[in-house]
Amino acid sequence: MKIKVFTLFPDMLRPMLSESILGRAIQAGLISVELYNIRDYTLDKHRSTDDYPFGGGAGMVMMAQPIVDAIRQNIGPDFHGRRIYLSPRGRRLDQSIVEELAREEALVLLCGHYEGVDQRALDSVIDEELSIGDYVLTGGELGALVVIDAVARLVPGVLGSDESSADESFTTGLLEYPQYTRPADFRGQRVPEVLLGGNHADIAAWRREQALEITLMHRPELLDTAPLTDADRALLRRIRRGREVAALLESHGIGAERLELRLADQWPKAWFAAFVPGDKRREAKKQCFSGRRHVGYLWQAFSMGFAKALSGDAACRAWAENRPDACMLCLPDDGLLFKVQGGQPDALAERLGDVVLADEALCRTLVVPGRRDAGPYYSESEEHP
Ligand SMILES: C[S@@+](CC[C@H](N)C(=O)[O-])C[C@H]1O[C@@H](n2cnc3c(N)ncnc32)[C@H](O)[C@@H]1O
Repeated sequence: MKIKVFTLFPDMLRPMLSESILGRAIQAGLISVELYNIRDYTLDKHRSTDDYPFGGGAGMVMMAQPIVDAIRQNIGPDFHGRRIYLSPRGRRLDQSIVEELAREEALVLLCGHYEGVDQRALDSVIDEELSIGDYVLTGGELGALVVIDAVARLVPGVLGSDESSADESFTTGLLEYPQYTRPADFRGQRVPEVLLGGNHADIAAWRREQALEITLMHRPELLDTAPLTDADRALLRRIRRGREVAALLESHGIGAERLELRLADQWPKAWFAAFVPGDKRREAKKQCFSGRRHVGYLWQAFSMGFAKALSGDAACRAWAENRPDACMLCLPDDGLLFKVQGGQPDALAERLGDVVLADEALCRTLVVPGRRDAGPYYSESEEHP
């Protein structure tokens, strides 16, 4: 990838291009960035590069001649690539544009300054305008650096391993999940248990959930175009529903914390110990574990008649005995579990539906039957299948 930057202030770019990942990539010849000072191409003895705008108005405008000559003299007639003017009125840069640019052989980046650039320069030597966001900078140099940085990290070899850019915000269509590093316990804040377990399928599932939730919270419009599976959509419904419930509880003065959705999936052994009687465990494992790893153990075990028919609070207690360090509980399908403090959750039961509320100690639960197929988990009085 060859990038040529045309600017009145090349020294503004040099420090960024000599440090860290960009610096190393340039040193290693993975990308080349050449800086051209537009002032070197002026023809008048004062080396002027800007003048007053025709028609009046504040500020100065960069003249066409030095820009056109600088670019024409340095890219030659056989140039294959994109010639870009950084400008607040351009197409707004995003990861898909960055990916497009990374596929080019070469880029020309023109940095404006003052009030901008004489339109005739743009008409002569520029293919498109790109904005780095809806705000106005003093010059295009920061914009050029943003483009260079974002494009460079997609050039093979620039990042430590190619995976580093495959899984990131926007590349997957979603924002990125939270990241953690050592120590596992920072002043009482623990890294989510699943990340310490080393089970790659569980970790991937947790990250997907987190990415979906964060995208839903911060940039919901991205979900309209992100490639989603049916499982993602189901999860999003559950997350949305969870947020509605939390807001409803909050509006009634009830503090609520949504508990882990997939705990039983993450600790299948503890789950089996809590819910499946010893004599049924062998057969249950055979039926529930094969083929469908980590999805729906609990619901499958219930619907196949292996699990004990426990109501919400008994289920909570059974879990707490087996997994006291982790709050329980995976609920089938769209069921949600909330740990609540204070208020009168009972009064909301009818409006919530399909939700289990547990008090802080998880020893009293209010089970809200919202689904006919939720089975004995929701109510001891229902017939076990
Ligand atoms: C002060 S700005 C000119 C703004 C211009 N008069 C306008 O209203 O659109 C000076 C230069 O900064 C650069 N610039 C400013 N904001 C930018 C943005 N959001 N994205 C990319 N470049 C920008 C452009 O190269 C522009 O020519």
